Amino acid sequence: MSKNVLILPGDGIGPEIVAQAVRVLEQVNQTHSLNISHESALVGGAAYDETGSPLPESTLEKAKAADAILLGAVGGPKWDGLDMAVRPEKGLLGLRSNLELFANLRPAILYPQLAEASSLKPEIVAGLDILIVRELTGGIYFGQPRGIRTLENGEREGFNTYVYSESEIRRIAHSAFEAARQRNKRVCSIDKSNVLEVTVLWKEIMEEVAKEYPDVELSHMLVDNAAMQLVRAPKQFDVMVTGNMFGDILSDAAAMLTGSIGMLPSASLNAKGQGMYEPCHGSAPDIAGQGIANPLATILSVAMMLRYSFGAREVGAKEAAAAIEAAVSRVLDLGLRTSDIASEGCTTVSTQAMGDAVLAELQKS
Ligand code: IPM
Ligand code: MG
Repeated sequence: MSKNVLILPGDGIGPEIVAQAVRVLEQVNQTHSLNISHESALVGGAAYDETGSPLPESTLEKAKAADAILLGAVGGPKWDGLDMAVRPEKGLLGLRSNLELFANLRPAILYPQLAEASSLKPEIVAGLDILIVRELTGGIYFGQPRGIRTLENGEREGFNTYVYSESEIRRIAHSAFEAARQRNKRVCSIDKSNVLEVTVLWKEIMEEVAKEYPDVELSHMLVDNAAMQLVRAPKQFDVMVTGNMFGDILSDAAAMLTGSIGMLPSASLNAKGQGMYEPCHGSAPDIAGQGIANPLATILSVAMMLRYSFGAREVGAKEAAAAIEAAVSRVLDLGLRTSDIASEGCTTVSTQAMGDAVLAELQKS
């Protein structure tokens, strides 16, 4: 049966990088007979400009019906002045919450070829392979009440609510322990339990769920220490599991360890196994339209899609994912770099040329 992928290019560099990823998807679809079709829709600022909503009903309907979603990025200064409710980011957050994509997997893997591009010493990051499991549909991002109100004295006050239910914590805990089972069997849960009650509960539920995974070792770390440890000795981590906001912050830090946030793919999964795949970086409006953005995180997101959404059922999907990952690695071996990962002795190439190179390597495999 044909599988349908919804492509949401979004804003900024989104359309440029997604275009390259779609070429890669089309290529492996052919070579590995995957029977995947795709269609595109609007999200974010691009959708707002066209329809007045960052997540038009038609996009949401298509997303719900899709077997998987590939998203570029949303947002940019053009829309900064908009009301919170219609900002481009609401399009992305609306997709995450409407589809209940609660488990966000953000692998931070250092390609040995890029050890020099990391801002840390090569020996600190060599061999780095961390998986951040970020809760994506709860926490302070979605907690109610929220807003900006005017107090009796006329002063305004902004407020958000950091809340997690037991069931929300339990399901992301299972995601983390399951993921650890496929890796080095260590989970480090990140909290701020010395200050925030919500994370006291978080820690307690993590302990409870850990009992079902006696083969996996659970440890806990406060988020401020975790931020420090990530730049001090990142290889101590295997799987890090944390809430929405801490995960947002820590995953950017982890990304930079690998040389560039332009290298990091991500998967956001729901309980039905439906997934949305996107690079961890944003829309990078400062370089949008110049043809210099790094498409590799988006291309690697296609590989994650083939693994997580199609790998279990579709013959050839896992092989196609491995072929994409190998092609990316060979392109780096060839010394091709977009400007974000440029280094001496390497050739700096455009977004399109990087896509061409991955396709050429795929054709050889
Ligand atoms: C991310 C991004 C988003 C987030 C923004 C664009 C809403 O930073 O995916 O990490 O905060 O989750
Ligand atoms: Mg972020």
